[in-house]
Amino acid sequence: MRRLIDKLERERCLTREEWIALIASQAEREYLFAKSKETAQQYYGNAVYTRGLIEFTNYCKNNCYYCGIRRENQNVKRYRLSREEILSCCAQGYKLGFRTFVLQGGEDAYFTDDRLAAIISEIKSRYPDCALTLSVGERSKSSYRRLFNAGADRYLLRHETANATHYRSLHPDEMSYGNRRACLFALKEIGYQVGCGFMVGSPGQTAACLAEDMLFITELAPQMVGIGPFVPHHETPFAKESGGTVDLTLYLLALLRLLKPDLLLPATTALGTIDPKGREKGILAGANVVMPNLSPTGVRKQYELYDNKICTGDEAAECWNCLNGRMECIGYRLVTDRGDPAKGSGGKNVQCNVAKSGRIYQ
Ligand code: 5AD
Ligand code: FES
Repeated sequence: MRRLIDKLERERCLTREEWIALIASQAEREYLFAKSKETAQQYYGNAVYTRGLIEFTNYCKNNCYYCGIRRENQNVKRYRLSREEILSCCAQGYKLGFRTFVLQGGEDAYFTDDRLAAIISEIKSRYPDCALTLSVGERSKSSYRRLFNAGADRYLLRHETANATHYRSLHPDEMSYGNRRACLFALKEIGYQVGCGFMVGSPGQTAACLAEDMLFITELAPQMVGIGPFVPHHETPFAKESGGTVDLTLYLLALLRLLKPDLLLPATTALGTIDPKGREKGILAGANVVMPNLSPTGVRKQYELYDNKICTGDEAAECWNCLNGRMECIGYRLVTDRGDPAKGSGGKNVQCNVAKSGRIYQ
């Protein structure tokens, strides 16, 4: 295993079989963590970037089997923030020091291109020094272009799994891995900084699925990868499935740090939910971003993608202070600039013939 970890560090690329072996055996965890921590330190020092998350609508037309805000969940109170409410979240976040806002929501038809573009340009004109990230699911390429032209800089769209059969088992028939991939490549082509990602331990996920995730990430070369454990939600078809583990999540975070040293890698809320020290452990394994919530406390509980989500009762300022304290405790510090990818290697793809050559992507 050490040989594979050394190869990953040296070449930033492994074959499918090598990935499977490395993911299936976690025999050299400590060896890997030492390298991933050192790599993160080398590229980012002790900086942890902050992104202010604004969950602005929990209406969703999709019906993903794992997600608490799926359309068939009748037991969630649906909400939409108004333009003014969104702007006031930004104002509050700006005062706290946030210089990136993430507008995240379900796939809500109310937010047409016109409505979203108007909100985006207003935020950008009020806060020209801030980066604006969208996370509003699958849309057409022309829509993505329109929102980019309105001022959006970045886009988060987790690919969820890079195995088409596994994708099928997590989503109803109207969604497809092919479309997901196409959206991510379209976003990249338009010029967004892109984030993809997946849940760790989602039902049916194997080491081979995770190997394909790694190859997909090598091919897409995103600026950010969001991974967190799958956490069952009681009102979904996956209510009785078992959740992902902290151990595997940390192991994968460390592998991702070695795969792409300049990657923006969040220690996610889901990780903090299944372990009270989850986010700290994530940072120590190689993550370098946290995404505290700026949504109004009145609606937080309704954006419950999974059970027992943390921070749903806290004001934005409390989340900031809490995270700041947590990071200082482990020798890191929250930084408030836009946190663009590290200079010098800014999102450039490492040549990897394995990812380019294969018909491994169904
Ligand atoms: N557990 C963990 N993560 C989830 N997500 C959705 N539902 C769950 C769940 N039950 C993740 C998905 C989605 C992101 C916004 O949240 O990966 O892309
Ligand atoms: Fe909304 Fe999955 S239920 S995107």
